[in-house]
Amino acid sequence: MVKKKVYRASWECPSNIALVKYWGKKPAQLPLNPSLSFSLQKARTTTRVRMESSAKRKVEFLFEGKPSIFAERIEQYLASMSLEHEWLNNFSFYIESSNTFPHSAGIASSASAFGALALCLVDLKQQVTHRNFTDQQFFQKASRWARMGSGSACRSVFPSFTLWGRMAGFPGSTDCNAIPVTSAFHPAYQSLRDAVLLVDSSEKQISSSAGHELMNSHDFKDVRLTQACNHLKELLQVMKSGDHLRFFDLIEKEALSLHAMMMTSDPSFILLHPNSLTIIKKIRDFRQQSGLAVGFTIDAGPNIHLIYFEQDNLQVRAFIEAELVNFTENGNWLDDCIGNGPVKLNG
Ligand code: PMV
Repeated sequence: MVKKKVYRASWECPSNIALVKYWGKKPAQLPLNPSLSFSLQKARTTTRVRMESSAKRKVEFLFEGKPSIFAERIEQYLASMSLEHEWLNNFSFYIESSNTFPHSAGIASSASAFGALALCLVDLKQQVTHRNFTDQQFFQKASRWARMGSGSACRSVFPSFTLWGRMAGFPGSTDCNAIPVTSAFHPAYQSLRDAVLLVDSSEKQISSSAGHELMNSHDFKDVRLTQACNHLKELLQVMKSGDHLRFFDLIEKEALSLHAMMMTSDPSFILLHPNSLTIIKKIRDFRQQSGLAVGFTIDAGPNIHLIYFEQDNLQVRAFIEAELVNFTENGNWLDDCIGNGPVKLNG
């Protein structure tokens, strides 16, 4: 009997939050517009893959120790990746995954999940082919592979700020993978914090894939794409100069434009919850009254991400506890900040 070859890889990968939003895509999961995000520190997925040589690919997936509905998506992902990467056909995959954030929190986990899985697969490819990629090659590949699972996942494999999508005047930017942004930003932006106010964890009415699809026939498509590019260009300038007021203007406009696109697509859909709007109003009132540099962004869901700087931590926490937790689901919020990117694990 031929002895089975067994390979193992384990990675931990963070989620990320976009400041300029990716909304709308073309085939092969390429974005209609460039986006900018930062990786989170605490919201992470850990994935361990055992890969065994076998004549027919079998995929087993456990999430937090139990079979999960995500298994089907992973099988489809591996099947589609294997069209281009044939070596994937020679193995079976036993995958175990867990998140640091609660499963029912209603926060998108596909970015950290596909980030972690893609990092494991590139690691396994290195082992199978006895090649040593440079760090740059390794993370670029991981970003491309993550993109095929979930577009925004391609931004999760890098620390700190990440740009995805070709942008005129930004060398190295490409639709195929994200790149780390090493611009000399004002130092305050390395101390960004994200308080994720969990408003409603019930299942979304519409998947983000379906939402992206609706952009293709959207009345405002061209205007939105131009707006996103202009916002990105200006945001990169603002983050150099440290104009915090404009920074929050821009990221809030981005978040509201994303939801405006959803509300005005055909068919229309609304992901915001009445409490999302109450929280937005309270954040704006707080900014006005306190004079602090705070603002919000929103993902494809009802949760509000309160963005602020580390130096204002105490006042912002007091504000959250006094004024916002009552509008969250069961008082739940996640205290996160800009992060250091993925970590390779032993075993
Ligand atoms: O990666 P997807 O296909 O789940 O798309 C997510 C897009 C947004 O989160 C709404 C915006 C973004 O840029 O992350």
